Amino acid sequence: MGKNKLEKFADMASYPHVFEYPYSVVDNVPFDLKGLWHDTFFKNDHPIVLELGCGRGEYTVGLGKMFPEKNFIGIDIKGARMWTGATEALQAGMTNVAFLRTNIEIIERFFAPGEVSEIWLTFSDPQMKKATKRLTSTYFMQRYRSFLQPGGLVHLKTDSNFMFT
Ligand SMILES: C[S@@+](CC[C@H](N)C(=O)[O-])C[C@H]1O[C@@H](n2cnc3c(N)ncnc32)[C@H](O)[C@@H]1O
Repeated sequence: MGKNKLEKFADMASYPHVFEYPYSVVDNVPFDLKGLWHDTFFKNDHPIVLELGCGRGEYTVGLGKMFPEKNFIGIDIKGARMWTGATEALQAGMTNVAFLRTNIEIIERFFAPGEVSEIWLTFSDPQMKKATKRLTSTYFMQRYRSFLQPGGLVHLKTDSNFMFT
């Protein structure tokens, strides 16, 4: 039988490649990796690529397998979903994959200027009525700009005509 949510949350808390900083804790728990993801966590200088709204992390893990010369960080607020990719990466012994559970609204707290090379937005909710919640809105783009390298890429994968437009 599969694990329930509480069991998944317990796993996540014990995983060395999972960082959990939702709104509720971010002001109280110091985050030490900003600007230090390369040196302290990945221990290489390979490009860092983010998947925002990664859900179960299929792209984070899949891209990590396809491109071992890049580092991937899947970001989402939903821990029970993220558990799937986090568990797969751990069991596969992947060293180029991490997960950050947080609200993307505060993403600039976790990455220093120029620290990230690429961003993937994979089937993000179109949020047709709430532009400020849409991960492609100016509100979010301003945040991505604060840490994306000059010439960095934002990849958009969507099945929504609205989002594409
Ligand atoms: C439609 S799902 C797509 C999941 C995955 N990328 C896929 O292709 O299956 C959107 C995901 O984005 C996450 N998400 C949306 N807005 C978010 C935000 N502001 N902060 C963190 N996660 C967010 C949701 O929790 C959800 O898992």
